[in-house]
Parts: sequence; structure tokens; C-alpha cells
Amino acid sequence: MSVGSIEELFIDELKDLYSAEHQITKTLPKLVKAATTPELKKAFENHLKETEGQIERLDRVFEILGKSPRGKTCAGMKGVLEEGAEMLKETEEGSIRDAALISAAQRVEHYEMAGYGSVREYAKLLGQNEIAKLLEKTLEEEKAADSKLGQVARQVNPAALQPA
Ligand SMILES: [Fe+2]
Repeated sequence: MSVGSIEELFIDELKDLYSAEHQITKTLPKLVKAATTPELKKAFENHLKETEGQIERLDRVFEILGKSPRGKTCAGMKGVLEEGAEMLKETEEGSIRDAALISAAQRVEHYEMAGYGSVREYAKLLGQNEIAKLLEKTLEEEKAADSKLGQVARQVNPAALQPA
């Protein structure tokens, strides 16, 4: 057993998030291409830039901890992204695909929100206040990205109701 303390759980989950963020940076450019609604393309583009900043923040966290961020693959994020890719195959370009992309992307955001919420709490518990602040910042960005997607959905979904 390699996780026997909150410190180890903390590092383990941070590595998981590090892997998740890298998977997301690889996927977002595909979503930008796949989306039709300009606001959705823009939301994905913005979140790609944000995600790159989130990786830098995690790099800083690992630097403070004196640990390597590597060594884990986030299987959960892999699954969530695979489901998104499936939806791409099952839909034609247009507003229905956009609706499906938003749904998939919101799953990604909620997965991340759960992860960042947990590690922020561990950081606080361990007295790692600087790290807690960095993680809190990312958590807020994920929440904002989720609510932006919800906003775009209210524009895209009614359009998807109209026959093409
Ligand atoms: Fe993220």
C-alpha cells in the first residue's frame, strides 16, 4: 500500500489532477475545431489558455512540496474524455453536436471541481496555505468555466431543437 497518510493522499490526488489537466490540454483543441457556435469555440479557446495556467500552478505546488508531478494517469478523466469523443462520432457538426460537447465539457469541469475541492481541503488541513490558495484559484476558474458553458447551453440547446 503506497497511500497511508493524508500527505500521501494529497500528493496522489495532485498527481491525478496533473495528469487530468494534461489530458484536457490535448483534447481542447479538438473541441475548438468540432464546435460550430462561435461562443462555444471561444469558451473552449479561453479554457485552453486557462488550463495551461492551471498546469503552471500545479508545477508551482509540486515545487513547494519538493515532489515530482509525474507518475500517474488519471483514469477517470480518460473515461470522461473518451465518452466525449464517442459523442463526437455519434453526432453531425452543428447545434446538436455543440449541445453534446457542452454536456461532455461540463462533466470534465465537475470532475475537476471535485478533485480541486478535495486537495484544497487537504492543503488547509496540512497547513499548506500558499498551496491552498493556488488550488482555490484553479477551483474558482473551473467553476466559472462550468457556469460559462451552462450559459452557452441556454443559447445552443434551443437552436438544436430546430430541424436543420
Ligand atoms: Fe482544469
